[in-house]
Amino acid sequence: MSVFNQVYTRKNTNSLKWDKLKQVYQIEDDTDLLAMWVADMDFMPPQAVIDALHKRLEHPILGYSVMPEASKQAIVGWFERRHRWSIDPQTMIFQSGVVPAIANIVDCFTSIGDKIVVSAPIYPPFFSVPTNLKRSLEFCDLIEENGQYRFDFEALEKAFDGASLYILCNPHNPGGMTWSQEDLETIIELAIKHDVMILSDEIHADLLIDGNQHIPLLTLPRAAEANIITCVAPTKTFNMAGIQAAMVIVPDGELRAKLTAYGMAHGHFELNTFAGVALEACYNEGDMWLDELQQYLSKNMDYVIEKLTQIPGIRIQKPQATYLLWIDYRETGLKEKEVMQGLLENKLALDPGTKYGEKGRGFLRMNVAAPFATIQQGVERFTQAFTK
Ligand SMILES: Cc1ncc(COP(=O)(O)O)c(C=O)c1O
Repeated sequence: MSVFNQVYTRKNTNSLKWDKLKQVYQIEDDTDLLAMWVADMDFMPPQAVIDALHKRLEHPILGYSVMPEASKQAIVGWFERRHRWSIDPQTMIFQSGVVPAIANIVDCFTSIGDKIVVSAPIYPPFFSVPTNLKRSLEFCDLIEENGQYRFDFEALEKAFDGASLYILCNPHNPGGMTWSQEDLETIIELAIKHDVMILSDEIHADLLIDGNQHIPLLTLPRAAEANIITCVAPTKTFNMAGIQAAMVIVPDGELRAKLTAYGMAHGHFELNTFAGVALEACYNEGDMWLDELQQYLSKNMDYVIEKLTQIPGIRIQKPQATYLLWIDYRETGLKEKEVMQGLLENKLALDPGTKYGEKGRGFLRMNVAAPFATIQQGVERFTQAFTK
């Protein structure tokens, strides 16, 4: 039996996904509500991670910790093996998460009122963080054709004029695209031409479906000519977001010195005791677990797509990466409010598309990183909600 078939009850574990449903969906009763929303999997991380954490706790003192060299080497080895990306450990800055890293990069390298460009539909902190930091946000949205998204490079070039920063989601959440080399090279060219820094959020890099490849932005030929900062993390890949760890890769020495100084000024020091331990274990011993996960996710996706696209008006493209299905219900003619209400009445919690910007209207995001038995329940409830 696959380890991914194991069903865990996560209620009452202080889980954001399962214990915050009343607040997130503004409902009084969340009994039996099936959580298929936030990008957090209902799977255990690799056994090696759990074993390493247990072993660490055999020593009962939990004082200030430093990131061990062995963990850095494990990170380097992973990205070399899985993505043919050779990362110099000197260029890594550790942060407690990619979202905190985005906020720090925005704050460190841009000023109040500066133009920051994002392409919607997009992971909400891409627009909420710059807005909260009083930057001027410009949407240069992706173009959707038959369920496929692509960049509008003409519009992007215009948007880059006078901009300080472009935040790229590679692979893309919520659309599930791994961007092509050609697309990424064009973005780099435009960034060089208009002197725009690129923040490449590559947190979904490992969650590749059906053999699709991720291209790290920093591996492209002209990357060194641009100001690129990439964020990666083990937390999405290995389902340990609660451990809170991310790596910010800053190859340019001046930019790195500036971000390091910013971190010192704002009190960012070492990560928590468990981060280094978990990082070393997952990156050294997580390969087979991830290979199996990718296959499991692909099968879950096939099942959901096969079932739900039988409902008139529902369209779903299989993602190339992530474990998130971006469900297009525009042809049903239903409004988001009634769709969400119908789903909640049928005890299913999905993300409404407008959470990802106005461009997401008419879509739902469904997290399929759960045991197959849970997925079957989700499909049943979705079908009930849409066929009533
Ligand atoms: C594109 C993207 N970036 C960042 C995050 C969150 O990163 P962290 O938990 O490290 O802040 C997510 C989580 O879903 C995500 O999808």
